[in-house]
Amino acid sequence: MGTFLRLFGISSDENRIDQATGLTERQKKLVQNTWAVIRKDEVGSGVAVMIAFFKKYPEYQRYFSAFKDIPVNELPCNKRFQAHCASVITALNNVIDSLHDPGLMEASLIGLAERHKKRGQTKEEFQNLKEVILEVLRQALRKQFTTEVAEAWSKTLDAAFTKIYEVFSP
Ligand code: HEM
Repeated sequence: MGTFLRLFGISSDENRIDQATGLTERQKKLVQNTWAVIRKDEVGSGVAVMIAFFKKYPEYQRYFSAFKDIPVNELPCNKRFQAHCASVITALNNVIDSLHDPGLMEASLIGLAERHKKRGQTKEEFQNLKEVILEVLRQALRKQFTTEVAEAWSKTLDAAFTKIYEVFSP
């Protein structure tokens, strides 16, 4: 049956759902392939996420002591801001790279959430960032952001942020 399906480009393995993430192998591949486009430009992609985040929630800029007083339109050229943005993408690289190993993925998400919780960040702020990330992906990937890709990303972010939320409301 597997061989028969593969002849038609439908691999049974591709559609197997990983219980830990709720994603099929095909969805994981779609996420990893589209993330490859984003991570190619760590600074540019990180800046796109953080600027969209600050524009939608200007009050969040004050959490960042290094650039809280810099006008938002000057931030993209600020090297300290660029460094922070690149580190956000690096953290997300670790999540996407560990999709095949949910235990590893969980460990990096819990570490990330704990560091943020200690600094006073909230579940709601993460929820707001999640929506911004999805929107930036949609804009950056344009035609590549098909309905299927959108669904794969939505599920991936749901799985990742569910782990983050566990730290905020144990
Ligand atoms: C997927 C979500 C997020 C990722 C991947 C991420 C990534 C990072 C990374 C890699 C750092 C530096 C290392 C560390 O302390 O962990 C950091 C620091 C920080 N993040 Fe996040 N973050 C996320 C969500 C948020 C949210 C929702 C907020 C607040 C609205 C936030 C506020 C901060 C602050 C205030 C710092 C410290 C900056 C400094 O003064 O150096 N982060 N984040």
